[in-house]
Amino acid sequence: MPVEQSPPDHGPSTAAVHAGEQRQRAHDSITTPIVLAATYPFDDTAALVEFQEGRVQREEYGRYGNPTIRAAEAKLAALESPNGQDTALLCPSGMSAITTTILAMVPSGGHIIITDDGYRRTRQFVRTILARLGVEHTVVPTGDYTALEAAIRPGQTRLIISESPTNPYLLVIDLPRVAEIARKHRVKTMIDATFATPFNQRPIEFGIDLVTHSCTKYLGGHNDLLAGVVIGKPDLISALRDAQGILGGICDPHSAYLLIRGVKTFALRMERQNASGMAIAQFLESHPRVTRVYYPGLPSHPNHDLAVAQMHGFGGVVSFEIDGDLEATSNFVDRLRIPYIAPSLGGVESLVEQPSLMSFYELSSEERLAVGMRDNLVRLSCGIEDTADLITDLTQALDLF
Ligand SMILES: Cc1ncc(COP(=O)(O)O)c(C=O)c1O
Repeated sequence: MPVEQSPPDHGPSTAAVHAGEQRQRAHDSITTPIVLAATYPFDDTAALVEFQEGRVQREEYGRYGNPTIRAAEAKLAALESPNGQDTALLCPSGMSAITTTILAMVPSGGHIIITDDGYRRTRQFVRTILARLGVEHTVVPTGDYTALEAAIRPGQTRLIISESPTNPYLLVIDLPRVAEIARKHRVKTMIDATFATPFNQRPIEFGIDLVTHSCTKYLGGHNDLLAGVVIGKPDLISALRDAQGILGGICDPHSAYLLIRGVKTFALRMERQNASGMAIAQFLESHPRVTRVYYPGLPSHPNHDLAVAQMHGFGGVVSFEIDGDLEATSNFVDRLRIPYIAPSLGGVESLVEQPSLMSFYELSSEERLAVGMRDNLVRLSCGIEDTADLITDLTQALDLF
């Protein structure tokens, strides 16, 4: 079924609701149906041959495509790339989007560059599984563009990977600069923009080749699904789609539907989460028991000017350090009444975590410090609750810990 392409002049809210929805609606249903089919029969052999020769476009087998998944992909592509020139590949998780992309693009003997602040599992994949497959890598300090360019190995480096903003310190990468360095050396770029979302930042507009998101976070938005996406030029995405058909990691159509449903309110949620993130960052910065706040919307953030130039809003995640040790920080976290203690971010429920305990619990304090993870660091993901209630909650927990 043909899917609706959002006209380029539509804003993100209109695109979020209408893009990707099916034009020929099954039973005149306003919603896109969840198509649960492992396979799609052909009327006769002539119909099969017509399809194989590319004379008709239709579904064939569940691992190669599904109408609900295609609708989700068209919606996400419209949000990330309003000029309509890019396409999307939906994956069963954010990690699947990242690993499928790297596996498809980097051959054995190839080399990739990653930055030092970022999602731990991405680095782990590069360090362990990719290394076993004969792919080499260099880790460069986030924001060190001289080191980045120096790390490029002519003919061997295939991909530069970074997040922007990064996890958990919310560092912002100079996207045009990275794109320019990569173009000069004929290397492809991939930005994991999960923390920014296409509402706040669209890396493709700055010359980046591929953008990934964990849709589990803001795009799905309700803490009820796992999904990921990679978006870029059709030829690149087509190669990734072929790889996905071989690797076999496919998003379930139920999750694809939940994602479509979640994305319809994405722009509204982002407005609230951006506003809460900013208000809470300002509140925390002025609190005597908070020693440091990491939020790109604050003038005190080292990449604030870059963030203002590249981003429309700064997101709902605020990282901060409090005046205390590991135990005092846990006391503070335990006293919060609204946010749940849980990994993840971007959903309607506020979530809080101590990165040193959530992701680096197996390391000693000294080892954590060596990888830049302080014991008094807290990461708060603002949900869509009332901002004033979140600030009241933070106030009582900071007064008591
Ligand atoms: C920046 C970033 N990228 C990717 C992922 C992985 O996403 P998923 O959990 O959907 O696989 C996460 C998960 O927390 C993340 O924070």
